[in-house]
Amino acid sequence: MEHLLSIADLGVDEIWHILNLARDLKEEWKRGGNEPLLAGKTLGMIFQKPSLRTRVSFEMAMRHLGGYAIYLSPNEIQLGKRESVADVARVLSRYVDGIMARVFAHSDIEELARYSRVPVINGLSDFNHPCQALSDLFTILEKRGRLEGLKLAYVGDGNNVCNSLLFAATKVGMDIAVASPKGYEPVPEVVEKARSFAAESGSEVFITNDPVEAVQGADIIYTDVWTSMGQEAEAEERAKVFPPYQVNSTLVAKAKPEVMVMHCLPAHRGQEITDEVADGPHSIIFDQAENRLHTQKAILAIILGGK
Ligand code: CP
Ligand code: NVA
Repeated sequence: MEHLLSIADLGVDEIWHILNLARDLKEEWKRGGNEPLLAGKTLGMIFQKPSLRTRVSFEMAMRHLGGYAIYLSPNEIQLGKRESVADVARVLSRYVDGIMARVFAHSDIEELARYSRVPVINGLSDFNHPCQALSDLFTILEKRGRLEGLKLAYVGDGNNVCNSLLFAATKVGMDIAVASPKGYEPVPEVVEKARSFAAESGSEVFITNDPVEAVQGADIIYTDVWTSMGQEAEAEERAKVFPPYQVNSTLVAKAKPEVMVMHCLPAHRGQEITDEVADGPHSIIFDQAENRLHTQKAILAIILGGK
């Protein structure tokens, strides 16, 4: 694995390698600390957007593995404004061993990868969020002991997180249903690609506008914000369209009794998810957030440490 730009580029064996290594590194860390697999290695972290989880979990992952991370804030590099994306990649990759970047346009992360001498990891783009969805597979596996044959219902905007979940689920044989309002469904290219992965793994992809239909028989209900970073101008319009897609107790009651509720966070409580659900017995959102640390350790150990 050279770069990590999209789960669509990963082999099923590579996904399982990440999940197994994440489990081992989490166990090792809980026993008292990790081996310094990345001693002397440095990760440059470019952010065009805000972050809590991605920034802190990547930085701590590097530290726990004996390495070092440099946070470059949105104002610092000003990707493509102060300097071209290609030149940023050419220069930064002479100083660090790996680059993690959170960008607006997915084409920017592809360009970083094209011109970088070191591996590039996607920490979220307008197209996808692979580290999130890999970590979510790890969380589901940890909670349920398997992935194949489970059903994940994603309720909300057909956005970057939804795209990565479509790829992640279908690669490992999980069924996925997506319920979005008309006009906010995941784009056809992503759905088609996910369907081709589903055909290989023996799972199913179901796209609907009906949240109740989507959550029927679901083992996991997953939601995300109605307005993603960069779409703020559309927030008012979206707030009118999305309320029927709120994950609340009534919707959760329509899934399996033991359904788990997930959210990548940050949550806009009272919009896409109620407090009652986010803090209720089905919610695993904070275990989910913690696992970003463990899964990204595995990703870093593989990409930068040759594991
Ligand atoms: N889920 C996630 O990526 O959170 P941040 O935006 O806080 O990094
Ligand atoms: N879809 C959200 C995810 C945040 C982690 C966004 O892009 O803002």
